[in-house]
Amino acid sequence: MNNKPYIIELPKIKDPRGNLSFLEEGKHIPFIIARTYWIYDVPGGEKRGGHAFKQQKEFIIALSGSFDVILNDGYKEMKYNLNRSYYGLYIPNYIWRYMDNFSTNALALIVSDQKYEQEDYIRNFEQFCNILNND
Ligand code: TYD
Repeated sequence: MNNKPYIIELPKIKDPRGNLSFLEEGKHIPFIIARTYWIYDVPGGEKRGGHAFKQQKEFIIALSGSFDVILNDGYKEMKYNLNRSYYGLYIPNYIWRYMDNFSTNALALIVSDQKYEQEDYIRNFEQFCNILNND
């Protein structure tokens, strides 16, 4: 449970025809990919997330536009503004998170080490803190 979130820089192949970035599982991100999903068309002022995962680790990239990812490890809050497609935020399990401040046309790509599993979600912040305190 004591894994920490951190920013991961991805390769950036600069090219006058347009830049290119990529990621490979186990190399640029520290897990094997089970699922990818994306969040888009977020209306101004909306929030996404508001939960933690028991197992799931994620890597979030702002493929387009920008947004904030606010994390809480049960002790302190951390805020990351993602606004480039050549780096992303690694979030281990047992970290509370939500995303807000989405720009127009923001596109968040999320790469995950788990398939979608409703039971993996912790959706109540008090319950999340209790789980951490009883660990
Ligand atoms: P959810 O993860 O709760 O979104 P957010 O945390 O941003 O509020 O997911 C919203 C809905 O989408 C929920 O009904 C489950 C569904 N969903 C899937 O079916 N598969 C997925 O991979 C994800 C991420 C969500």
